Amino acid sequence: MSPGLDGAPHIPVLLDEVLEGLAVQPGSAQVDATFGAGGYTRAILAGGGRVFAFDRDPDAIADGQALVAASDGALTLIAATFSALEAELDARGALPVDGVVMDIGVSSMMLDRPERGFSFQQDGPLDMRMSQEGESAADFVNNADEAHIADVLHEYGEEPRARRVARAIVAARPITRTGELAHVVRKALGYKPHDKKDPATRTFQAIRIHLNRELGELADGLAAAERVLKPGGRLAVVTFHSLEDRMVKRFLRERSGSMPGGSRHLPELKVNHKPSFEDVGRAVRAGEAEIARNPRARSATLRTARRTNAAAWTA
Ligand SMILES: C[S@@+](CC[C@H](N)C(=O)[O-])C[C@H]1O[C@@H](n2cnc3c(N)ncnc32)[C@H](O)[C@@H]1O
Repeated sequence: MSPGLDGAPHIPVLLDEVLEGLAVQPGSAQVDATFGAGGYTRAILAGGGRVFAFDRDPDAIADGQALVAASDGALTLIAATFSALEAELDARGALPVDGVVMDIGVSSMMLDRPERGFSFQQDGPLDMRMSQEGESAADFVNNADEAHIADVLHEYGEEPRARRVARAIVAARPITRTGELAHVVRKALGYKPHDKKDPATRTFQAIRIHLNRELGELADGLAAAERVLKPGGRLAVVTFHSLEDRMVKRFLRERSGSMPGGSRHLPELKVNHKPSFEDVGRAVRAGEAEIARNPRARSATLRTARRTNAAAWTA
């Protein structure tokens, strides 16, 4: 995505709505679980909040140092995944907190820098690692067996022709560039330049989610947020596709005791726990004006809730 009109590397999505959901009070302790370019963090600092911000991307942490220096001690930037936020806050004597915001997914900086290997519109090395360590997308497509690749494309990309794409990937190995992978997928699915949606979108999303364990991180992050929020504390979560939004919606319905008929998979939770969240807001989406300013906002969904004084459901 291109930089914002004001030159910001990433335009924060649903910013006003997120701030309303967090209801930041001066002097309150807020967690920005996905710092990125610091769009939410800046606004929280401007409202007088103290921020503990997390990011797993070393580039985001490096770029954020100027803001740390300018914050006069109000911003602590932590290079860690948000699944670890409880231990990281505990180590800093920062528990419990008044608010947690999560803005799930990739930053515009990741998409805009071809060398990060997230973009199928610009050619670069096939990487896609948010933390810049561990298995790369090239490692995955060149070494995983065909059935595993197909499962990943089906599960995390909701790719209807996952087997066909997986077969084409295996036949084209080795694949080392994002441009090559996009070409293989488009050829396998018969893409024509005037088609509305590039079919490579689903494959790139699937591989990214799998490599970065994004859905596992989200589940762990939500449970951690429940444990670190004080009674009355606020949670705000922005997601960008239905797989993630379904998880957030289900989590908040369960935890607020409004899961119709309880959870078939988690019957013990229904019996043993009091609601840990209340005041669960309806899904909030960007309006036309925001989408015109920032097309990335089109697929964003915000959900908010307030922590009760009941115990967290997981230790
Ligand atoms: C959509 S961007 C956040 C943008 C930010 N709200 C802003 O206004 O600039 C998501 C950021 O979260 C980070 N991220 C994604 N998953 C993460 C995780 N599990 N733990 C920590 N950071 C994560 C990414 O590295 C990326 O920088």
